Amino acid sequence: MSIKMTNFIIFTGSANPSLAEAVTKQLDVRLGNRILQRFPDGELHIEIEESVRGQDVYLIQPISPPVDEHLMELLLLADACRRAGATQLTAIVPYLGYARQDRRARGREPVSARLVADLIKTSGIQRLVAVDLHTTALEGIFTVPLEHLSAVSILSEAVRPWIEDNTLVVSPDLGAIKLAERYARLLQLPVAIAYKTRISGEEVHTKGIIGDVHDRAVLIVDDMISTGGTVKAAIEALLEAGCLPNILVVATHGLFVGTAVERFRALPIRRLIVTNSVDRPGNLPFPIQEISLGPLLAEVIKRLHNNHSLKDLIIHG
Ligand code: R5P
Repeated sequence: MSIKMTNFIIFTGSANPSLAEAVTKQLDVRLGNRILQRFPDGELHIEIEESVRGQDVYLIQPISPPVDEHLMELLLLADACRRAGATQLTAIVPYLGYARQDRRARGREPVSARLVADLIKTSGIQRLVAVDLHTTALEGIFTVPLEHLSAVSILSEAVRPWIEDNTLVVSPDLGAIKLAERYARLLQLPVAIAYKTRISGEEVHTKGIIGDVHDRAVLIVDDMISTGGTVKAAIEALLEAGCLPNILVVATHGLFVGTAVERFRALPIRRLIVTNSVDRPGNLPFPIQEISLGPLLAEVIKRLHNNHSLKDLIIHG
């Protein structure tokens, strides 16, 4: 397929420049120049340093910790591009912060995901590309078209060499069942489910395992690892239920915030695999295999820019 790659430009904020560079390298283009600095009072100052008039603009920026700063960078980059005459504005947001706050879990809370969706629309972004969101239902919250990509097939290929005859896929909570089914389909494995309740932002409790994990190796899959509480509780419950100490963990987004570093240092994990959707310190004190989203995101930009179908790359249902 011959690809025409003219009249488009890619900018990035400060959230994950190495991923943005990986994408531009794949596409054989350079990142657009912009100024991104803070005024003495802490306000963000953005300036686009080249013409975007009449161009398709792609903004690569995960809303990763510190989420408010990275969200604001994305919004101001978009506003600057819109006012400078960009024709089509697409945000490539590999990790979408605030996505887990898609409803009021208790009374008198905001629906933060909805407000973020509205801010994204107001900033001038006309289309959003995200990867393995917490729930596919988020599409209903966004008023701009959402292209919901999955990293499950590239992560399945990465973990395949570690799979054994007796491995089964474990969903660490009820919310990840569909994700676990996607891994199970690709890897031809059965599924078990951990029954999790969340106590606080950092603490979760797993009440038990649905399915027989006795003498089985396990592959725990999740959309994200934040503090590691979910994975830790799942591993404890799985070991108690008699699984073998042969544990693989795969997640699309590896944030490793709060107590995650101490937790993962202590957990008996044979292989831990995440993507580079968010930037992390390079010196985490436990082994971690990182799979780049660069080729996937570059392919998506190519297809969007040339109006080619994304059907085989996006999640349905
Ligand atoms: C929540 O339901 C998500 O799918 C993850 O399981 C969760 O956000 C992971 O967070 P943590 O690592 O802090 O338990």
